[in-house]
Amino acid sequence: MSDTSLKEHWNRAWTTQDDTKVSWFQEKPEPSLSLVSRYATDRTAAIVDIGGGASRLVDALLDLGFSDLTVLDLAGSSLKIARQRLGERADTVTWIESDVLKSEPERRFDIWHDRATFHFLTDLADQQRYRYLLDRGLKPGGILILGTFAPDGPEKCSGLPVCRHDSATISHVLGDGYELVETLGNDHLTPAGRTQHFSYSVFRRSR
Ligand SMILES: C[S@@+](CC[C@H](N)C(=O)[O-])C[C@H]1O[C@@H](n2cnc3c(N)ncnc32)[C@H](O)[C@@H]1O
Repeated sequence: MSDTSLKEHWNRAWTTQDDTKVSWFQEKPEPSLSLVSRYATDRTAAIVDIGGGASRLVDALLDLGFSDLTVLDLAGSSLKIARQRLGERADTVTWIESDVLKSEPERRFDIWHDRATFHFLTDLADQQRYRYLLDRGLKPGGILILGTFAPDGPEKCSGLPVCRHDSATISHVLGDGYELVETLGNDHLTPAGRTQHFSYSVFRRSR
């Protein structure tokens, strides 16, 4: 899919239905919230949500007092939904409308969170580009939290093919320099009532 049509796909996905009806919607963003809170050393930790869209993770982290939050997404329409929902609180968050593979991070983060975005990278070259950008954007000692469809999860998400993962396949993409610290499965119940198996992996960047 071309860059333009990918952007169009996602802007359409976010605008043709209510954001609470999309299959990936979570009222309570778990286990992401628990994992971020557990691995963030303090409330000033720099946290980025890659492909965060209109996720309520940012709201929940603001509620807990986290002060250095960035949300990056290809679809400007999704960021608009989140900003409108947050009102004035949105001004304390950095919003980046970009393809994760196209933008070099301008700073380094303590925590890099990604739920259901990395799994759209089905080409090895794109996965390696993501890994390169992760190296640019995550501090040494920083934490990567990656949630993807599990090996027994759906083959498509939002009508697009995905690459299903567990911690072993992600370790393979990351290679040296990332130490697996935790892995867990998660059953996501979609608004339509279907169960999707997710796999979450937490890695620490060792150097
Ligand atoms: C399945 S949704 C998950 C949204 C959010 N992470 C959540 O858990 O609710 C995938 C998100 O990734 C975004 N996305 C897809 N490909 C992307 C890319 N290459 N760069 C940045 N964002 C992307 C989409 O716009 C969408 O918001």
